[in-house]
Amino acid sequence: MRMYDIIMKKRNGGELSKEAIDFFIEGYTKGEIPDYQVSALMMAIYFQKMTKAETHALTMAMAHSGDMLDLSAIKGIKVDKHSTGGVGDKISLALTPMVATCGIPVAKMSGRGLGHTGGTIDKLESFPGFSTSISTDQFIENVNRIGIAIMGQTADLAPADKKLYALRDVTATVDNMSLIASSIMSKKLAAGADAIVLDVKTGSGAFMKKEEDALALAHEMVDIGNAAGRRTIAVISDMDQPLGRAVGNALEVKEAIATLQGQGPEDFVELCLTLGSQMLLAGGKAQTTEEARQKLEAVIADGSALKKLASFVEAQGGDSAAVYDPELLPKATIIQPVPAPQSGFVQQIACDEIGICSLLLGGGRETKESEIDLSVGLILEKKVGDPVEKGEPLAFLHGNDSRKLEAAEKRFLAAYRISEEKPEKRSGIIKHII
Ligand code: URA
Repeated sequence: MRMYDIIMKKRNGGELSKEAIDFFIEGYTKGEIPDYQVSALMMAIYFQKMTKAETHALTMAMAHSGDMLDLSAIKGIKVDKHSTGGVGDKISLALTPMVATCGIPVAKMSGRGLGHTGGTIDKLESFPGFSTSISTDQFIENVNRIGIAIMGQTADLAPADKKLYALRDVTATVDNMSLIASSIMSKKLAAGADAIVLDVKTGSGAFMKKEEDALALAHEMVDIGNAAGRRTIAVISDMDQPLGRAVGNALEVKEAIATLQGQGPEDFVELCLTLGSQMLLAGGKAQTTEEARQKLEAVIADGSALKKLASFVEAQGGDSAAVYDPELLPKATIIQPVPAPQSGFVQQIACDEIGICSLLLGGGRETKESEIDLSVGLILEKKVGDPVEKGEPLAFLHGNDSRKLEAAEKRFLAAYRISEEKPEKRSGIIKHII
């Protein structure tokens, strides 16, 4: 078999056999097939798409490209959670301590920033000293001892996704349904949880802009998970504007901490409660959604979820003092307002463009090797439906370089649509639960 023939077959719209998919994943994982050929194949898949059978074969090949974690040493029903990626999506930072405090063992594998979206691993690295490069033994021990462990992709678990994820990030090949489904589900299957709750985003800040595409992606992933014997649930949530108000690694960590202190933004809290309820139901820790919500609200109110976050950060080498004093997190040297160019109401926000503003400030990768600046990002003061007076700040940009700030401000202003009429009230953040 030759990689050249596989690329050509897909470029011409053909269906790849399981053998061809296994060949390319094995060869790429071992370093025998170079990035440039895989980039070409990713672009061919992007344009020609994959059938259901190809997507399932790709997922299983990627899941089996490394070890399949055995979590049987952890008592209880292990429930994992994963988002398809959004802007200001800091859900895992607040949600994992909440559900762990309610008794769900959380053994999670997370990713880094991808395209215009942020990644949990980058955000967690805002805690000085924090490391997600932990051994499998340490991972299992931490879940047993404190209830949460989050690891990055290693050479052992779904290494094919680790390589493909980094390559897609810099070759404009992220937003394809089969590539997203196989990337997420291969990690989830390899990480060994019994049940999986998926947060599938839709809207201008999501990879799936249209709700029908998000639904198709959700069904595809639920099918893959259930076929592999893992109970899989998907929540479709709105990503037509950033989640909460903070976008950028350390800024999002701060907002997650504020949420665990009972001061979270409404949309963010609602999504945490919805996803958390599904996790508690799947893990047998609640019988009804009402009971689950009450339990989750209680662990915020009594401060136990915040304490859990501190224990988790400490167990992975991080400075837990920053949980109680977020001023210890990385901080940008320049904070500047973006004044509204006119009065009216915020009609629309091009959410992916807001993610790109954060990247322009230094919060994302240009190439696979780029270092990111954890301190930069933005805090939104105005969201869709809010009234605004000319000159009032729409947001505060946090940066360390005035030229980057200038570019980000220009892009930010182009992403906001303000006009005189009051927009209709938006429907809530949750669209469907599958
Ligand atoms: N999250 C992932 O893990 N992979 C994708 O492709 C998109 C979001």
